[in-house]
Amino acid sequence: MSNIHPFGPFQTASFTRRHVLTGCGAGIAVSAFPAGGLAERGPAGDFRVLRARRGEARLRGDDRRATPIWGYDGMVPGPLLRVRQGDEVRVRLVNDLTQPTVIHWHGLRLPNAMDGVPHLTQMPVEPGKSFEYRFVAPDAGTFWYHSHLRSSEQIGRGLYGALIVDEREPVAVDRDIVVVLDDWRLTEDGNIHQSFGSPMDASHAGRLGQYATVNGRDFPDLPVRTNERVRLRLINAANARVMVLRLDSHRATAMALDGQPAQPFELRGGRITLGPGNRADLFVDATLAPGAKAPLVLEYGRGQELPIAQLTYGGEPVRGAPLAALSPLPSNPLPERLDLANALRLEIPLDGGAMSRWMMRGGMMGPGMMMGSGDRMFWALAEKSSTGHDGAPLFRVERGRTVAIDFLNRTAFPHSMHLHGHHFRVLDRADNAVRPYWLDTVLVEPQASERTAFVADNPGKWMIHCHMIEHQESGMAAWFEVM
Ligand code: C2O
Ligand code: CU
Repeated sequence: MSNIHPFGPFQTASFTRRHVLTGCGAGIAVSAFPAGGLAERGPAGDFRVLRARRGEARLRGDDRRATPIWGYDGMVPGPLLRVRQGDEVRVRLVNDLTQPTVIHWHGLRLPNAMDGVPHLTQMPVEPGKSFEYRFVAPDAGTFWYHSHLRSSEQIGRGLYGALIVDEREPVAVDRDIVVVLDDWRLTEDGNIHQSFGSPMDASHAGRLGQYATVNGRDFPDLPVRTNERVRLRLINAANARVMVLRLDSHRATAMALDGQPAQPFELRGGRITLGPGNRADLFVDATLAPGAKAPLVLEYGRGQELPIAQLTYGGEPVRGAPLAALSPLPSNPLPERLDLANALRLEIPLDGGAMSRWMMRGGMMGPGMMMGSGDRMFWALAEKSSTGHDGAPLFRVERGRTVAIDFLNRTAFPHSMHLHGHHFRVLDRADNAVRPYWLDTVLVEPQASERTAFVADNPGKWMIHCHMIEHQESGMAAWFEVM
């Protein structure tokens, strides 16, 4: 605990990197995630084995000592899983760790039994044991998978990966680049700091790291060629960090959010904000000259920024000019018809955090003790602190009904509110208009509210929780049932 200062280095002050942007020769081709094609399709009936185990990763650059991590197949991110829309995902998780684990498929509208929530949808997979996940991927888009048990530690040590579901018809892009973002809290000698779920982190902004990586790498090159159209698939896999990303010198168009096609919109100032759990698919026309470089920049707090990867142009243009206008991605088979007039309406206040009335009135001791979990409960969802997979459901709803949830953030921190098994529409705060995109995770700013609505069409028991993992594990979680 010695060098943890929640409002010190991890919160706003500098990220650590030796070669900042100028680092010629520091660039590493993103070998784990080259352009497309890393299909993990096996013959019918085959299961792709994923071993949760120890491994190592050069999070601080290739010339510094590797960091011991936990990862699927010992890698971070884990293997890129890729299927075509409508195909089956078949994964056999083998637990080679010394503690139980599970895999959750974030953003997948899958059968409840495959959702990977311990005690709610399956039993934890004990060390030495395995579990088979098998489900159809109904939606094309950018998804991810991660542990959902002791998540602060297991995700924090690297147990996550990307799951890409390709459109049935190929999309007109030249290159497809997966960009998995994370920040790491490391000790001086490059080990992962043990301070998982520390009360200080849990009651403030969550576990923030001082090393930022793209695909488990320090400032990788993302190779492109002049006049290509590039699909950048951004995934925020950090435990708690809200990431404001900026791509310089290019026009970037958001084509999909949280895996679901959106009405395309050009990023203002080249910026997009991703809360933990969020994804964005950007189409970028590579309009610079051969040999050019352009950084992807992480903006964090009060004008501070850090280049975390760079587009690196190769020798020859791929064609004489960039492609002409783009058309939206084909839509997914989501339940479009929101029936707001007959919706089950819920106001869900979010409370808690350091110095809050919730904690002052005994949230720190009271609810935590009442839960009997021994964990400290700093947060509440709908005025209850829960781990989200025990006790009574937050609500029950008959299948097919529209549920309208207003998240009211009464705290001093942002919260990245995630719904399992469904995507929701975000409604405009002012006029109730439905905004032209679907999300599975919505960032609710401090003292602000977000109005969402979805059709509860997927039967089962589903979690709803903050994706700042340390908040989730200290009370900001619940479950609901679709009957
Ligand atoms: Cu990405 Cu309940 O999680
Ligand atoms: Cu939160």
